[in-house]
Amino acid sequence: MRLEDKTVLITGAASGIGKKTAKRCAEEGAYVVVTDVDSGSGEEVIDAIEENGGSAEFHRLDVTEREEFGEVVDTVADEHGLDVLVNNAGVGHPSTYLEDISDSVRDYVIGVNLMGVWNGCQAALPHMKEQGSGAIVNVGSLASILGFPKQATYSVTKGAVLNLTRTVAAEAGPFGVRANLVCPGFTDTRLLDQFLESFDDPEEAREEISEEYPLKRLGEPQEVADPILFLASDEASFVTGHALVIDGGFSIA
Ligand code: NAI
Repeated sequence: MRLEDKTVLITGAASGIGKKTAKRCAEEGAYVVVTDVDSGSGEEVIDAIEENGGSAEFHRLDVTEREEFGEVVDTVADEHGLDVLVNNAGVGHPSTYLEDISDSVRDYVIGVNLMGVWNGCQAALPHMKEQGSGAIVNVGSLASILGFPKQATYSVTKGAVLNLTRTVAAEAGPFGVRANLVCPGFTDTRLLDQFLESFDDPEEAREEISEEYPLKRLGEPQEVADPILFLASDEASFVTGHALVIDGGFSIA
């Protein structure tokens, strides 16, 4: 069991990559704190984990709400300790040229994708530093390291999260706390479906995008969840400040 006796808090864990990460962490022995704005789906994840013999609890948590984030983290840390934080919650936006992006879309995406991670780090670091251990895994994107046309807001937030991760790693390393980033390429989740809906023929778009990947397919949530699990575990005890690209070779082809 790679996460035995560890408590893992995951944001945006009611769906997609976060949901799969929650299930994998539970399978590896962690006590999993599933958080999301979607309570119904979040509770279903708890049921699935418990049916599989794991232990978990759900908190409704909007990552943009800094105080709420702090309260949830404080409660979890007091009751169970906090070994791992996975800042996974994220949203996309319609494909639009930068000059046409509305202020409300810009602020919403920055609020969730950047400030949500910021809030999580601010809430968790005092606990982790005090206990002298901890691992933060942030979920970035290929958009953390590449520019994507008509995805300015998303790319800006994911790029910022890369340097936030490096900064946290540098600051918290002396306290025994690690911070890493995963940078997935297109992965088969609801977020991808929403992105594809902006094309005239979503299925054709999916096939064309898949062809651009050396592995000729898109990723599955488990293929991101397992690298997150690795970075969260003691197997990665000397890995910090790293951006792990999980993209079927897209960025090198
Ligand atoms: P998803 O849409 O399946 O799951 C995202 C979850 O975040 C949902 O359960 C949603 O309710 C939750 N969420 C949204 N706003 C929230 C908020 N304010 N507070 C708390 N929870 C909130 O999407 P997916 O793909 O699993 O996304 C997870 C992460 O992976 C995101 O950070 C995304 O940017 C990133 N990512 C996804 C890729 C993909 O192709 N699916 C590629 C690269 C990165």
